[in-house]
Amino acid sequence: MAETKKTGLIGGILSLPNDDPKKTLFIAVLLCLVCSILVSTAAVYLRPIQTENKKDDIKKNILAVTGLNDQAGTVDELFSRFEVKLIDLSTGEYSDTDIDPVSYDQKAASADPQTSKNIPDDQDIASIGRQANLAPVYILKEGDKVKQIVLPVHGYGLWSTLYGFISIEGDYNTIKGLRFYQHAETPGLGGEVDNPKWRAQWEGKKVFDENGDVEIRVIRGHVGPDTVNAEYKVDGLSGATLTSNGVTNLLQFWLGEDGFEPYLKNMQSEMGNS
Ligand SMILES: Cc1cc2nc3c(=O)[nH]c(=O)nc-3n(C[C@H](O)[C@H](O)[C@H](O)COP(=O)(O)O)c2cc1C
Repeated sequence: MAETKKTGLIGGILSLPNDDPKKTLFIAVLLCLVCSILVSTAAVYLRPIQTENKKDDIKKNILAVTGLNDQAGTVDELFSRFEVKLIDLSTGEYSDTDIDPVSYDQKAASADPQTSKNIPDDQDIASIGRQANLAPVYILKEGDKVKQIVLPVHGYGLWSTLYGFISIEGDYNTIKGLRFYQHAETPGLGGEVDNPKWRAQWEGKKVFDENGDVEIRVIRGHVGPDTVNAEYKVDGLSGATLTSNGVTNLLQFWLGEDGFEPYLKNMQSEMGNS
């Protein structure tokens, strides 16, 4: 039976023998095109889901750093117990902006020159380059009393910027927990920041010494019974001094005068006056 003659450019190419280089090239290009359409469609379709998951993950981390994750309720129900406010970092006061604090994106704000400032090299101990003018705080109250306050922190380790939260108790000095939700440090080395045993050491440590200076740090080696001022110290991550130093630096920056210190000191003195 005579073969049906395929017409047009595509038909012409398809009617070539399978080992013809023109047909091979055409099929390869066609395959790439189809695959790229599939991948782009999936990426566009999945983006809102990914954004929601990221937001959910942040909420889960805030619940975990405060210990609220053990309680009954959905993530949204438990998270609704927090009052979320924006702090003007230059004054340590609550900001009077009408930006919604829950949807405020501190990362995006720190990339925008309109909403952030450059940090001079000699002050940039956390190696973050720019700092957003506003930062969110998550306040957990019992009645009128502040039980915990969660502060976002970030700074450079060895390979990556570590993003996390520190929760501080209602005395604005005692740490309840520290937890990172994003980093790319090496698993087993710097990645041990996620080790529950290491994380457990933060509970009960103090931020400020009796002179009001930020004293909390990760030391080299272990904190033992003979360690002087152990209440401000946490074990170093073994084989990962550079990530350990990064954690110290980011805490010293964010709890210091260019970070939340003015806010924490304001809250301490308000507490003293009430
Ligand atoms: C492949 C590789 C990955 C590493 N990852 C880390 C890391 O994530 N964090 C870190 O502090 N050090 C890491 N190090 C080790 C550092 O280069 C450095 O030796 C170490 O921080 C020094 O800490 P130490 O004095 O406690 O050994 C890595 C080394 C290698 C070879």
